[in-house]
Amino acid sequence: MLKNTANRYGIVAKGFHWVLFLMLSFSIVAGNFLASMPKGVEKMQAAGMHKSFGAILLMLILMRFLWKLINEAPGLPAGTTPMQAIMAKGMHWVLYALMFAQPLSGVMMSQAAGIPVSFFDIFEFPVFLDKSIETAKFFRGMHGTVWVLLVLSVVGHAGAALHHHFIKKDNVLKQMTAGA
Ligand code: HEM
Ligand code: HEM
Repeated sequence: MLKNTANRYGIVAKGFHWVLFLMLSFSIVAGNFLASMPKGVEKMQAAGMHKSFGAILLMLILMRFLWKLINEAPGLPAGTTPMQAIMAKGMHWVLYALMFAQPLSGVMMSQAAGIPVSFFDIFEFPVFLDKSIETAKFFRGMHGTVWVLLVLSVVGHAGAALHHHFIKKDNVLKQMTAGA
């Protein structure tokens, strides 16, 4: 039930997948709203919330990744070619890399700008980077680019899942929902 089996994802992997789908979608919309706000106290407060929420996301992504590493992956549908298998697995690694890069670039951007990242004012993350406007600009650019790549990859990923479900009529989508 909790762990994955050879033909479906377990409850934990499904929970991580769909909770993170909702939280990432929300955070992308909220981040864009934040970037459009004029400088001032309200923006500072909104940025504090966005960063703390992003820190929760980073921890969830890390926990999900560790869970993936200690779990088997369900098998691919019969008739999958070796090339398709490499593409399917490769896409999962790309999605993890982008999921990690989004909050990490946010933390780096803030640290390089000389603003330590606090978790809802409860504790502060250790500072890894010296203050540097150039470095802050670099990570800000990265933070503004990675989410676009994530959205594009997810469109392809969800499109593939729907193609399996409605055209190929196999179990791929059901493995990640209530079905299989
Ligand atoms: C997975 C978690 C996160 C997502 C999905 C996310 C998403 C976004 C997006 C879409 C933007 C708008 C970027 C643009 O086009 O200019 C943004 C802005 C921003 N994010 Fe994040 N973010 C996350 C985590 C973080 C973290 C952890 C921090 C810092 C610790 C952070 C700091 C910021 C700041 C300061 C801005 C405003 C930049 C500006 O004013 O241009 N974000 N975020
Ligand atoms: C933020 C958006 C999303 C991300 C980052 C994401 C990421 C992932 C990752 C990394 C996996 C591999 C299993 C794992 O390690 O948990 C996976 C599996 C899966 N995802 Fe998503 N996903 C997203 C949205 C969606 C959506 C919208 C759908 C459906 C329309 C979907 C359908 C599936 C299915 C069916 C699987 C299992 C089949 C497979 O192994 O490819 N995902 N997803």
